[in-house]
Parts: sequence; C-alpha cells; structure tokens
Amino acid sequence: MKQINVAIDGTSSSGKSTMARALAAYSGLTYIDSGAMYRAVTLYCLRHNLVSDDGVVNEARLKKHIGDIRISFRKNEKGDQETYLNDENVEREIRTLRVSNFVSPVAAIPFVRHAMVAQQQEMGRLKGVVMDGRDIGTTVFPDAEIKVFVTCSAQVRAQRRFLELQSKGDTDVTFEDVLRNVEMRDHIDSTRKESPLRKADDAIELDTSLLSLEQQNQWIFQLYDNYPA
Ligand code: DC
Repeated sequence: MKQINVAIDGTSSSGKSTMARALAAYSGLTYIDSGAMYRAVTLYCLRHNLVSDDGVVNEARLKKHIGDIRISFRKNEKGDQETYLNDENVEREIRTLRVSNFVSPVAAIPFVRHAMVAQQQEMGRLKGVVMDGRDIGTTVFPDAEIKVFVTCSAQVRAQRRFLELQSKGDTDVTFEDVLRNVEMRDHIDSTRKESPLRKADDAIELDTSLLSLEQQNQWIFQLYDNYPA
C-alpha cells in the first residue's frame, strides 16, 4: 500500500463513493465517507428537534451539543464500512431521503464543518486514506497526493439514487422527488460560504455520466498505479 492520501470530491450520487470504496479494496487504503459524517450530525439534529420542517437549524442549541457528537466507522461481517453515531450503528438511517432533505443546511454551518474537518484531518494524519466528499481536495487534505473531481448529469444521478432507494424498499419516493433533492443539494453545496463544492486547481476531473462502474473503477485504479510508490 502506498503511504498517500487520495481526495475524491464531487456532487451527490456522481459515483465518487463507489469509486472510493473500490479503490480502498484495490489498494488497501482506508475508505472514509465524509458525507456520512454530515448525515450523522443531521440525524442527531432530527432526533433532538434541532431542525424545523423547513430546514432551519437551531444553531445555538446544536453548538452546545456538537462536542457530544462522536462519529466513527466500523466494518461489518461482510467487510463493508458502517457509520456509528455515539456507538450506535446508524448506517441505514442516515441514507434515507428524510436525512438527505435536511443535510445540506446542517453541512453549511461553519462550526459543524470545523468539527468534522478536524476529525477528518486526524483520520488522515498518518496518510493511507481515501476520503470522498465536497471539500476534501480543497480544505481537508489540500496536500493529498491524488485529487479527483467527479461530475455527472443531474438526471443520471437522480436515476441512480432513485434505483438505490427502491432497492432498499423506500418505495414512497418518486423520481421527481429525488431529482429535486439532487438539484437542491447541488445548489446549496456549491453556493454556501463555508467550503463550497469546488474543484481544487490540481484535481483531475472525471465525468461519469456515460461510464460503466467497471470503466470508472479502472480509471481510478490506473491513476493510483501510476502514482510513484
Ligand atoms: O456525499 P453525500 O451525498 O452522502 O453527502 C451528504 C451531504 O453532506 C451533502 O449534501 C453535502 C454534505 N457534505 C459536505 O458538505 N462536505 C463533505 N465533505 C461531504 C458531504
């Protein structure tokens, strides 16, 4: 395994986490899903009534509790990584559309980002990490050895998320609901003041709209193999 960090940024459902997981399995690097951390904070907010139905977060109360929110990752028996919120497995719950609908305003709060970025930087301090998110190449690991910025059309991304939700039994959701959520999150994530979604100047861009899983995985494996050991 190479002692490097790999940063993979991009919009939601662009294929970045699939690529990051595949690269981790291929290379032995540790995969970290930074979006799962913002999702876990959002779940905490929903459970503690810290966010209103129209997405307004009670920042003063959340600030008091941000130090109580511990997020960690553990592998299950199949070897897949799962997200824990204060020692509770929340992997399933953080992927629901309910959490997706509230995550962008929570992730836009500066003190939430500072707390998560500090935890992420600690995870990559000794290198050996592949992390995906929105600001990994720009803010979390500006010195990452490999930086990738993944793009994909909103229609294709909504279709992927829709099929994923259906396969998990979330059948109340329509394709239009998912498309609206994808477009709303793109807008909030790329226009927020704190660490907006932006391609790092030295990141390599990949559009996955017309690529198969196999093709996108081969692309990242080659990038990793070509990096000097
Ligand atoms: O990758 P995802 O869709 O699971 O991310 C969930 C949300 O978290 C997304 O709307 C943006 C936010 N996020 C972020 O602001 N910064 C990151 N590094 C990762 C995710």
